[in-house]
Amino acid sequence: MSTFDKDTLVEQCLSAVRSESDPRRAVKDIVERAVSDPVSIESEVRPWTESPMMTIWHRSEELTVLHIVWPPDVDLFAHDHNMWANIGIYGGREDNTFYRRLDDGRIEPNTEKSMLVSDVVSLGPDVVHSVANPTRDWTAALHIYGGEFFTTPRTMWSKDTFEPMELDTDFLRERLEAAAAAARLADAPGEAP
Ligand SMILES: [Fe+2]
Repeated sequence: MSTFDKDTLVEQCLSAVRSESDPRRAVKDIVERAVSDPVSIESEVRPWTESPMMTIWHRSEELTVLHIVWPPDVDLFAHDHNMWANIGIYGGREDNTFYRRLDDGRIEPNTEKSMLVSDVVSLGPDVVHSVANPTRDWTAALHIYGGEFFTTPRTMWSKDTFEPMELDTDFLRERLEAAAAAARLADAPGEAP
């Protein structure tokens, strides 16, 4: 029987943000519990290959809760969030590269972390990372941010020069939607010969 409920998740996270002295840590625990049981989450959401790329479960000045499904074969620009984040994987794999900020505004790659099912990464407000799904499977994740994810000014960095630029959510969304469309096409059953 399913024990995951997205409204309960949002309520728990909001409560943590409002009452805990270390909300990032408290929300990490909540996300870890949720993604420890991927089957329960899957029963609450639409199949990955049919899901919208991003579903907003909650959006306010204090908290953003997103359900995000990544298509295969995606490698996104490095970016910051300017707020803490906890990201929990419950399907597929997400490869993270973390960057060091340089004095001239550029960044350089520093460390890497490959996340598999039930892994949670907790990021401070200054973290810069890029994410990739190098597999042929979809990646499904819960993303919890400690602020208003969509209107907070953020930065992304060129893949080639590592120069900073204003983050353009529409640009990133278009790239993801194009990859999703290609993946859905590849997933569709072919006609019988
Ligand atoms: Fe990110």
